[in-house]
Amino acid sequence: MNLIFLGPPGVGKGTHAKLLSERFGIPQISTGDMLRANIKQGTQLGLAAKAYTNKGELVPDQVVIDMVRERLRQPDCEKGYILDGFPRTVPQAEALAAFARIDAVVDLEAGEDIILGNLGGRRVCRDCGATYHIRRLDGATTCAACGGELIHRADDQPDTIRHRLEVYHRQTEPLITYYRETGLLINVLAEGDIEHDFALILKVLDLE
Ligand code: AP5
Repeated sequence: MNLIFLGPPGVGKGTHAKLLSERFGIPQISTGDMLRANIKQGTQLGLAAKAYTNKGELVPDQVVIDMVRERLRQPDCEKGYILDGFPRTVPQAEALAAFARIDAVVDLEAGEDIILGNLGGRRVCRDCGATYHIRRLDGATTCAACGGELIHRADDQPDTIRHRLEVYHRQTEPLITYYRETGLLINVLAEGDIEHDFALILKVLDLE
């Protein structure tokens, strides 16, 4: 099962990819997480990526294409994987088609008010990167998994969120047409709570 999760920032790609990964024992491959790990470690790739991610711009195609191609060669991808946040441009999708066989593309959609609510209340662990929402934190300020401090992501500031949404509409939305034409696209309206939306995803993928 080789899947792509597509959709605007904050729609729940990472949340549902992680749930699916845990349920089926296949890796969640988030280019956003990989870039943030590189930034945290101060690698050359991270230094180059930071200027783009902090502004809400896309990192150059070739950087993420090479990163994903290398990641998919790892043995844990043999039984399948979930691509979360890749591809994000038509050139990335064309490059992916040359080195991967994709079974389905789940396009998560939600109204802008829901997306803004999701991103505005998101908190992430400074240490392990686990994601939470203040709706479910009950006032907690530390990570349930590792005890790390919960913080706002650097790109979750209101101006950057607005810019990320513009970038999504301009550069990533054309992928909806691209994958519809391949017959791989499955649309899911992700406007319920996490359990409701995850159940919908399992249903459309015939994984119930
Ligand atoms: P990335 O980390 O991929 O960010 P993104 O696509 O903007 O997506 P997000 O992580 O913000 O949202 P999500 O859909 O995963 O939502 P989440 O599950 O966290 O990329 C960051 C940056 O890296 C990019 O801007 C770019 O610079 C660079 N980059 C990455 N990939 C690239 C690529 N391929 N090419 C070029 N550059 C690239 O959910 C959000 C919140 O809502 C959470 O708090 C969650 O708990 C909550 N929530 C989610 N679903 C629900 C629900 N159903 N009900 C209630 N709450 C929910």
